[in-house]
Amino acid sequence: MAAEIFDTNDESIARAVKNLGCGALVGMPTETVYGLAADATNEKAVAEIFAAKNRPEFNPLIVHVSGADMAKKYVIWNDRAEKLAAKFWPGPLTMVLPRCADSAVSFLATAGLDSIAIRSPKHPVARKIIMALDRGIAAPSANRSGRISPTTAQHVKEELGDAISCIIDGGPCSVGIESTVLSLLGDKPALLRAGSVTKEEIEAALGETIEQGGDEKILSPGQMLSHYAPGIPIRLNAMNPKNDEAYIAFGNKIPFGAKKTMNLSNRGDLKEAAANLFATMRALDSKEFSGIAVMPIPEKDIGVAINDRLRRAAHG
Ligand code: TXA
Ligand code: MG
Repeated sequence: MAAEIFDTNDESIARAVKNLGCGALVGMPTETVYGLAADATNEKAVAEIFAAKNRPEFNPLIVHVSGADMAKKYVIWNDRAEKLAAKFWPGPLTMVLPRCADSAVSFLATAGLDSIAIRSPKHPVARKIIMALDRGIAAPSANRSGRISPTTAQHVKEELGDAISCIIDGGPCSVGIESTVLSLLGDKPALLRAGSVTKEEIEAALGETIEQGGDEKILSPGQMLSHYAPGIPIRLNAMNPKNDEAYIAFGNKIPFGAKKTMNLSNRGDLKEAAANLFATMRALDSKEFSGIAVMPIPEKDIGVAINDRLRRAAHG
């Protein structure tokens, strides 16, 4: 039976919390993308996440918390985490920190690693759910493994409707791209995944330079080359769309010729483009087109994360 979509009233939040407490999966809105949520301390519920997504079990999940106080129950906090949480939490920054000795987080959620990726989401619905459950919530993006991340409740239903108890409709995600992932395990902080919190903003907040990650021992889905993949080929930096292609444009000087064109942002706003990216890829993912051509996107600010996701989609 397909999961029902509920509005964000107190009753549906109570339903989500009750279901999570019983070990069921819930489609939960966050400001970045929709999450497939489970009680992070319930090993069996976390196992359901991997089964529903068909996600490889060596790929650890992010644990969502209400703030620094809850985070400290699960990870070993440090000065960098303190500075970054003060500046970017609640919000789209995930920090990887050492697991603390009495951490109740499921070992499956962390793929058996002795570290935990943790973030405090900004979306009011996610915050209410976490606070009412009063426990960390493990939540990967609510798509089947390797597919485009969902940015609306309807996307979640399309992807995983059969596996979830309910979906809470918190509206379209305002950021639209998954959180920035930063490792605080080594001598220097290392950026593992680009997101809307940029490398430059993190460096400014910390007052030190950070490294580009990549030599981490784990293979994360967000770091796998082929990810976010539509079912048809993607061609990047294309200024000459063909008449059987769909075209993803950006800005107000767009070339003609595509069978169908969708614009990420007419006014050339990178934040607006990020918010529209996954829904646009989803809308154009049709055998009606020979492929999707994409206009060049400026490699600055959140454009870095947009280009990262596009490159992975193109690799598919
Ligand atoms: O915005 C987001 O982060 C969304 C929303 C739902 O919060 N979640 C999300 O989760 O994108 P997911 O599972 O699709 O991506 C989690 C990323 C992966 O790249 C994973 O490898 C990395 O976080 N990660 C998780 N635990 C880690 C750890 N202990 N060490 C290094 N990377 C880790
Ligand atoms: Mg994902």
